[in-house]
Order: sequence, then C-alpha cells, then structure tokens
Amino acid sequence: MAQAPEQTAPALGKDLLGLEELSRGQILSILDTAERFKEISVRPVKKVPALRNRTIVNAFFENSTRTRVSFEFAEKRMGADTVSISTSGSSVQKGETLVDTARNLEAMGIDMVVIRHSSSGSARFLAERIPSNVINAGDGKHEHPTQGLLDLLTIRDHRGRIEGLKVCIVGDVLHSRVARSNIHGLKRLGAQVAVCGPATLLPAAVAELGVTVFRRIEEAIEWADVLNVLRLQLERMKSGFIPSLREYNRVFGVTRARVEAGPRDLLILHPGPMNRGVEIDSDVADGPHSVILQQVTNGVAVRMAVLYLLSGGRAEQAEAVKQGGDP
Ligand code: CP
Repeated sequence: MAQAPEQTAPALGKDLLGLEELSRGQILSILDTAERFKEISVRPVKKVPALRNRTIVNAFFENSTRTRVSFEFAEKRMGADTVSISTSGSSVQKGETLVDTARNLEAMGIDMVVIRHSSSGSARFLAERIPSNVINAGDGKHEHPTQGLLDLLTIRDHRGRIEGLKVCIVGDVLHSRVARSNIHGLKRLGAQVAVCGPATLLPAAVAELGVTVFRRIEEAIEWADVLNVLRLQLERMKSGFIPSLREYNRVFGVTRARVEAGPRDLLILHPGPMNRGVEIDSDVADGPHSVILQQVTNGVAVRMAVLYLLSGGRAEQAEAVKQGGDP
C-alpha cells in the first residue's frame, strides 16, 4: 500500500547502481512512487508525458526477458523515446569498448542508459565516465537494484510492511546479484534476513552480510515469513558446485510438501527465469503462496518510478504525474 510521501522525499542522485548505497528514505520514496504509478498500466491508454523528450538507451549485453521488456514498457508508458541495443548486432562485437559505445550514443543526444552486463562493477564504471543517468539492470554477481525494489514492493503489498518480517533467500546466493540487492534493501527497511543453500553456493564471507545462515530448507521454512527462491545459475558455474540437479531438488528444492509442512502462510517469490523441478516445483510456483507473476507486474511500476525520479521528478508530484500533468 502507498504510504504518504515524506514532506520532502530524498532525491536519488544521478544514477541507480545498487541498493547498498540507497538510504531507507530513498528506497521508500521509490516504492511509494511505484505504488502510485501502478494504476497507469491498467488504463486503456497506458501513457503519461512525464518523460516526454527524454531519450533512453537500453544496452543489454547479457540475456534478459523480464528486465529488458519491463524497462521498455516503463519508458514507453512514461512517454520517453527509446532505443535498445545488445551485443549481437552492435559494434561491441567488433571490439568497441563499453565507454566508446556509450559516448557515441551520447553524441546522438541521449539522457539515460539502462545497462545489463556480465561484469560486476560495469554499471558504476560507465556511470563515472558519462554524464547521462545510468541505471544498473544487473551487473555480473554484484547487484540488480530494480529487481530488489520490485521484490520489496511485492512483499509490502502482501504483508503491509517490511520491518520485522523474516525473509529467507534460498539457493544460489554465491552467483546472485538479486540476493545482494535483496539483502541490502531488506535490511535497510528493517527485515530480518537469512540465506539457505549448500555451502558451495553461499559466499565464503556470508556472515559479513549480516544474515542468518540455514543449511536445511526445512529449518528455513520453519523460520521464515517469506521465501525468495533463486535460480541455480548454471551458466555461471564451471563445475562441482552441486552433485546433480536431482540431488539439489531433493535436498533444497522448494516443494509443495515442504511448504505445506511449514508453520505459517509463506509468501513465495522467485525473480525468474525459473528452473521448474530444480529449485522450485511447479506446484509451488503456480500455487496459492506464489506471487511470482505479481513481481513481474510490479517491475514495470518500479522501473517507471526509478526513471521518473532519476530524471528529476519529485515523489511528492507523482500523483499529479499519474493524472497526466507535467512533472
Ligand atoms: N529477473 C530477471 O532479471 O530476469 P531476466 O534475466 O529475464 O531479465
């Protein structure tokens, strides 16, 4: 639910690179603005002029369905002009550097770059070298801030709060930028956070993240109000992290029997794409505890809010923007 915006909600600054660097006030300002913008996507005419005359480049140098399409919808619904590029078909494949690509795009007159890249730190690297706003849409194993924000919004929608909730992130935490953004965002808003998975898929310094560690999924379910189930990132694993996918599902899989044996009405999230039958069973993914598709719906509103606030929009004016007024 939307809470009354603070009198003067804190501005976001030039870029959105990670939730680690956002204050509680900045995160709440994004969530409250997103809450107001949700309604735009269910109108017959899904468009407001808030980003009219802004040009945004979506530079996706790694595969994506949800994040890329969600940003494109968000940009179009806010009235921006957009262009999308990927490695395939761009001069990156001829060896052009990231910064040269961005500077050439800037020479054509752009205002923002949304970037997904396989290298941790690539979004910051770019942000420090170009004047356009940079939004991190997932950089290697570092952060995926808009995914963290849409997860927070979805949890708050269903539980009415974040503070005091027990949220366990299950699975391949080692390779997960989603886990890192969730941990920073949840802790900043006062949740208790745990992780659960095989030791080989948890960072060596996991305790330094300030989270509880569960080695058994049954204990995690016993403890948690919310499970955020992560995909096994097979493409980032060389070998030897788990004996087999079948073994992983047997020991750590979020199955209907495990969920139903838990003491409370769990809320189950997954950032997608899912490996059905590995980290999560279809009975659970499509079942009554799952809010997975609501996460996807909320993603558009969160990205509209981030684009609006980074472009200089004020959270206090989000209601007027929603009614079609200029920011
Ligand atoms: N959640 C997420 O980042 O999905 P995509 O890789 O499809 O964008």
